[in-house]
Amino acid sequence: MRQQIDGYTRLCGLIGNPVEHTMSPAIHNTLAEGEGRNLVYVPFHVERENLGRAIEGAYGLNVLGLNVTVPYKGEVIPFLKEIDRMAERIGAVNTLVRTDGGFKGYNTDMMGLYRAMRSENISIEGEEIILLGAGGAARAVAFMCASRGAARVWILNRTPEKAEAVAEEVNTQQGRECLVPMGMEDYVRLPGDRRYLAIQATSIGLYPKVDEAVIQDRDFYKKIHTGFDLIYRPSTTRFMTLVRESGGRAFHGLKMLLYQGVIAYELWNGISVSEEEALAVYAGMKEAMGIEE
Ligand code: ATR
Repeated sequence: MRQQIDGYTRLCGLIGNPVEHTMSPAIHNTLAEGEGRNLVYVPFHVERENLGRAIEGAYGLNVLGLNVTVPYKGEVIPFLKEIDRMAERIGAVNTLVRTDGGFKGYNTDMMGLYRAMRSENISIEGEEIILLGAGGAARAVAFMCASRGAARVWILNRTPEKAEAVAEEVNTQQGRECLVPMGMEDYVRLPGDRRYLAIQATSIGLYPKVDEAVIQDRDFYKKIHTGFDLIYRPSTTRFMTLVRESGGRAFHGLKMLLYQGVIAYELWNGISVSEEEALAVYAGMKEAMGIEE
C-alpha cells in the first residue's frame, strides 16, 4: 500500500540519465513501507548541465538523501560538502547523505558488494582473488578487496595497461604489493597450486550477449572455487555457468544492488536494516526480474 503523503513526508531520490529502468524506487519504498516510515523515493532524470543545480536545489528543498547513477558518479564529487574516504579513493559516489551545510558522498556500491559477499559466506580477507576487468567497476572492486585485506588480487584485463594503472594506484595507496596486473590471456600463468575467488567485472555477458564470457577456456574455471559476477541481467551469465560446470559456486550481482540500496537507506535514516527485512526486499526484486535462484 502506498505511504500517505503529508506535511512530514521526507524525500529521497535518484539522479542520473537515464533513470527510467531503475529498481531503486522499489527497494527504498518497500523498506519505508515495511517500517511504516514516512519517506518516499523518486527518480530524477537530470541533464548534465543541470547537475550542480539539481544537487543544490535538492539540498535547498530539504531532500534527505540522493542516489547517483550513470553517468554522474564521478561528476557529482565537486558539488559535495564532504566525501567518505573510500569513495574518494575510488573516485565514485553513488549516495549523498544530508549533513550540515551540504551533502556527504559515499560509495555504497562497494559496501554493498562486500555485504552481498558476506551474506553468501564469501570472504575477502586473506584470499587470493582473480579480478576480471580494469574499467570503472573493476577499479572500485580492486580498492574494496585491497582495503578489506585480500592477500592478493590478480587483475586481468584485455588492455593490460589499464590493469597496470589500477594496480599501481591501489598498491601505492595500500603501501603493499597486493595487486598483480596481467593481460586477459595471462590466466594460463596464474599459480596452479591453489583455487581462487573470481570476480567478473567486465561488461562481457551482459544482456543481450548472454552467451559470451571474457574467458571461455574450461581450464581457467578449474582454478575457481567461487565466482561472483557483477552482472545481474541475465541472472545466470555464461561466466557463472562455466564456474558451476567446473564444480565452483557462482553468484550474480543482484544482491550487490540490494545492499547498496539497503546501506544508503541506513545512512539516510540512521538505522540498521535487519537481514530479514533486506531479504524480503530481495524477494520482491527477484520476482520483478523473474529470477528463481
Ligand atoms: P564499467 O564502468 O562497467 O566498468 P568500463 O569502464 O567501460 O565499464 O569497463 C569495461 C570493462 O570490460 C573493461 O575492463 C573492458 O576491457 P578494456 O579495458 O580492455 O576495454 C572490458 N571489456 C569490454 N569489452 C570487452 C571485450 N570485447 N573483450 C574483453 N574485455 C572487454
